[in-house]
Amino acid sequence: MSYPRVASLKNGESFCRHLSDSSIELPFDEEVQTGAESPLGRSLEVHGRTIGNRFCILPMEGWDGTSDGKPTDLTRRRWRNFGLSGAKLIWGGEAVAVRRDGRANPNQLMINEGNCGEIASLREELVSTHEEHFDDSSDLMIGLQLTHSGRYARPNDKKRPEPRVVQRNVVLDRRVGVEDDSAILTDDELSRLIDDFIAAAVLAERAGFTFVDVKHCHGYLGHELLAGVDRPGRFGGSFENRTRFLRDIVAGIKAATNEMNIGVRLSVFDFVPYCPGEDRIGIAEPGSEPRKTFGGNSTGDGMDLAEPSRLIELMQEIGIRMVCTTAGSPYYNPHIQRPAFFPPSDGYQPPEDPLVGVSRQVAAVEQLKKQHPEMIFIGSGYTYLQDYLPNVGQAVVARGMADSIGLGRMVLSYPELPADVIGGRDWQRKKVCRTFSDCTTAPREGIVSGCYPLDPFYKKREERDLLKAAKARLQK
Ligand SMILES: Cc1cc2nc3c(=O)[nH]c(=O)nc-3n(C[C@H](O)[C@H](O)[C@H](O)COP(=O)(O)O)c2cc1C
Ligand code: SF4
Repeated sequence: MSYPRVASLKNGESFCRHLSDSSIELPFDEEVQTGAESPLGRSLEVHGRTIGNRFCILPMEGWDGTSDGKPTDLTRRRWRNFGLSGAKLIWGGEAVAVRRDGRANPNQLMINEGNCGEIASLREELVSTHEEHFDDSSDLMIGLQLTHSGRYARPNDKKRPEPRVVQRNVVLDRRVGVEDDSAILTDDELSRLIDDFIAAAVLAERAGFTFVDVKHCHGYLGHELLAGVDRPGRFGGSFENRTRFLRDIVAGIKAATNEMNIGVRLSVFDFVPYCPGEDRIGIAEPGSEPRKTFGGNSTGDGMDLAEPSRLIELMQEIGIRMVCTTAGSPYYNPHIQRPAFFPPSDGYQPPEDPLVGVSRQVAAVEQLKKQHPEMIFIGSGYTYLQDYLPNVGQAVVARGMADSIGLGRMVLSYPELPADVIGGRDWQRKKVCRTFSDCTTAPREGIVSGCYPLDPFYKKREERDLLKAAKARLQK
């Protein structure tokens, strides 16, 4: 498999030539416009409020909370960076567990009575940092991402999975050590979990957030429920049953809060789990079950957006106005979720030019936006575009293929990107994320996440040596 690094494509012309030679479809605007009336600078109206521009900061956890789920200085620094980015939509900040057994790691943030004040102060720090750098924060919208990690829960020990699943899955069960049905959450347990999500939303409202994201992506509990075709009972089988969890949470939040808005981060398509094949290049793992992928087709590595589209229609019916799109899972098919040239060291080499992964997410969102023009769609997976992110992002928004451009990894290495682009300031090439994946490899090794290669703050930290040693061991 050979394809050029994006950094080796010296200008927009060679980037576009590469796209066309490789038959990769992505829109591209040669000239990036600046200012409040530019495609990326223009505001957006939702829930009777204004979002000041078309950049969105995607949720990214740092594995750096305290053991009881409060933020640390590292968490606060990340949220301040979100504030100084200039992006006017902050989608969730990071995944925050609604209760202890739903934590993806023992340092994940958790929202409860005891932590509410500290989580509120995270939001306040973001807002005050934003106000130090920009005139106005009235057009800044901040949500909190609520989660239960389900199959990927590791609440007590970063090395010990304690999965709670929706249904059995041959390949994924093997990976997280599910050996019998005792890991399956009962219907009663799911009902209690719905109450926990509602209670968390009440606290998020008290903490000042404008919306909560009821997370349905990346193989975590909400997402796995959508694919729960083999699950019997009230939460499995039919589309109606598989969406009951979301519907009940939304109804409960509406009843229990004053005016809390609700969004959903959704993996709009999924593939079967991948594993390293010959030369460590990723292949669909033999024995996988394509029918258990939400938004996947029968091949296991293709999209079928019929059910995701139906779900978005349902979301509109229950008052949801914003969907933050993503795909697959960082655990079992990261190449479709966060396209990278250098994959996380415990994974597989990309089975395709990572630009194909970017283009797939862009195309899926375009299709859904066409079908549901009133829904606000935030796109993800743009970081791999590197120096051409603004050109493609502007083209996507200007053509109405998505409403807002989500930034994940890029904001860890280059937080000021939105302000630089909209303000017409110099492009800081040295800060551009080159998808080294250290921010993903580090937490897989129990080390706090951060941009170790490019962020001077993390470059200096002692964890950098630990990470280097872990990578050397994994690459043997
Ligand atoms: C270190 C790290 C942590 C992440 N944590 C979360 C999270 O808490 N919640 C979530 O929905 N997505 C999470 N993501 C996924 C990102 O939000 C985003 O979808 C992904 O990185 C692809 O976007 P990008 O190409 O701009 O990086 C995380 C990604 C990274 C790299
Ligand atoms: S560690 Fe830094 S350069 Fe590497 S993928 Fe993460 S943000 Fe990008």
